Amino acid sequence: MRKVGLILPVLLLASYVLLGQVYRLDEMDLRGMETGWSSPKANKSVDGNPLTVAGISYEYGVGTHSVSHMLVNLNGKGLRFESLVGIDDETQGKGTVEFLVLGDRRILWRSGLMKAGDPAKEADVDITGIKLLGLLVLDGGDQNYWDHADWLMGSFLMESYKPSVVMSQRQPYILTPPAPLSPRFNGPSLTGGSPKKPFLYRVPVSGKRPMAFTVKGLPKGLTIDKDGVIRGIVSKEGKYKLVVTATNDHGKASKEITLVVKKDAISLTPPMGWNSWNCWGLEVTQQRVADAGRAMIEKGLADYGWSYINIDDGWEADKRLTDGSIVCNEKFPDMSKLAKDIHADGLKIGIYSSPGSLTCGGFLGSLDHEKQDAEMYAYWGIDYLKYDWCSYGETSKKYTLEEYQAPYKKMEKALRECNRDIVYSLCQYGMGNVWEWGDKVGGNLWRTTGDITDSWASLSSIGFSQDKAAPYLKPGHWNDPDMLIVGNVGWSSSLHPTRLTPDEQYTHISLWALQQAPLLIGCDMTQLDDFTLSLLTNDEVLAVNQDIAAQPVKRIILQQGFEAWIKKLADGSWALGLFYVGSTADAPEDYFAWDQNDKARELSIDVQSLGLKKGDYSVRDLWRQTDLGVSKEKINVKVPYHGVVLLKLKP
Ligand code: GLA
Repeated sequence: MRKVGLILPVLLLASYVLLGQVYRLDEMDLRGMETGWSSPKANKSVDGNPLTVAGISYEYGVGTHSVSHMLVNLNGKGLRFESLVGIDDETQGKGTVEFLVLGDRRILWRSGLMKAGDPAKEADVDITGIKLLGLLVLDGGDQNYWDHADWLMGSFLMESYKPSVVMSQRQPYILTPPAPLSPRFNGPSLTGGSPKKPFLYRVPVSGKRPMAFTVKGLPKGLTIDKDGVIRGIVSKEGKYKLVVTATNDHGKASKEITLVVKKDAISLTPPMGWNSWNCWGLEVTQQRVADAGRAMIEKGLADYGWSYINIDDGWEADKRLTDGSIVCNEKFPDMSKLAKDIHADGLKIGIYSSPGSLTCGGFLGSLDHEKQDAEMYAYWGIDYLKYDWCSYGETSKKYTLEEYQAPYKKMEKALRECNRDIVYSLCQYGMGNVWEWGDKVGGNLWRTTGDITDSWASLSSIGFSQDKAAPYLKPGHWNDPDMLIVGNVGWSSSLHPTRLTPDEQYTHISLWALQQAPLLIGCDMTQLDDFTLSLLTNDEVLAVNQDIAAQPVKRIILQQGFEAWIKKLADGSWALGLFYVGSTADAPEDYFAWDQNDKARELSIDVQSLGLKKGDYSVRDLWRQTDLGVSKEKINVKVPYHGVVLLKLKP
């Protein structure tokens, strides 16, 4: 393998060194570079290998992943930008991308479509007079699978000015008001379970502990404990009205909760919990899962209805026992004990498998062992299964509906025959418009997209395209646009704070609330900071997500760069999110926040343009939990860039 070091760049820049100063791309602050997957690396490929394109290794440069973009402030003092570009050999022949260089919204240079294996191309771009320079890698028009893109030996030749990366606004600010010390019931007034199967429900109440709980109307077979956890087995179907009362030193509160005991009456509102994938990836361990469960209680999240602790890929062994039973790998010494401890706190536990022979992470899948595996999960005490297509088939191939459904039906049957309620989460990235039939194969939720990552490109392209699936949700059956990317994430043991700005995080939680998406926290729960916690414990925002009417949300494009998402709530009011999406990424220049210093925009919206009846509405800001008064036909708000104002409108 040839290696290219300093000789070529020296030659490339030789004609300029006397005129100006050279600054290397890899030495800039790469936290400002967005990637569609993982994070950018200086002098390494995105997977951390030496930068190598078409058999040639390069000493320096930046490894990234499409869609990737970075905005650089040149202050009009640039002379040339030079770089070689190509797909890193580590993809072994997979991936297509296009590299672009933009200056003040104009395309200055584009590579054309590049495939894995293509020799590196040279960008040699005149940047004189340019104030803001954008470096962009697009996905080549075929989604961004395997788009490991390298900027090789990228350098700026500058005239007496050091170029700097434009960072988005990152100071967190908390909107959620602190919860009162007196007991406050959070969460929906509805829960459910099958008759004759174990029932477990921790009543979500915030407020100072110790707190005492009593309940009226509990059906035979159930008890409530000192932490407000209701458990037991009900044998008779029915709709039971429970009145729970919580008392502490600061006061007393009561709430009526309907308990539906009916076959498979689970996930009547979207599941809320934690999943190991977005933080630990395949480095998940039993201890890390147990710690997440503890943190769910200690940080008070359980008081808001967060209840599932879900293990994603990486718990399975690579060989079954001789009788075919599935076993855990050495990172999970005792699954039954883990489940027991989590249940002791009134929380529930989830697990992960694939209908294929191998999971996406290369561990054992359930192919031809569906019944045996479901029984093992039930024996361990599992309450939730994420079932991930992975090696079952190809993602790029088109199958018939029957073919898409067959593996999911098989596991559905196995799960429903178990002696436990097990929430069934379909994961096949939306193939065959799964939202149209996910309920027919017993799915309580189904992923509608590929994997999310902590970038605005990923969040916005997933989040703002979910209107397609919105009409299909109903109690017990939810669209899943993937898990939350707030807090410290990393898909491995090395974690980093989410690369979303605070406003982008408000957008994330608000959109997921309006879409009634399952809420699965994806960060290390033991390191939750106050800002992240405030995003996850706003009872009025969560109430939109948990609304029992399960009405579809509607998307309305207000004007270029602004969207409204609106849905009717069970109490007859409307939840309305007004989003300043900014670029819609239809054109390359739209990927950049050229005007991000102009941070907020005034909006004045006629209620009729939202499809609402003419008239006055009382308006409440849900994040701030304050009344904004009565709208006189028009709603006037100021929306931050990439941010949202989330309102409740009462006619
Ligand atoms: C797929 C899924 C992810 C995660 C991984 C585990 O990529 O979409 O959510 O479960 O597999 O390997």
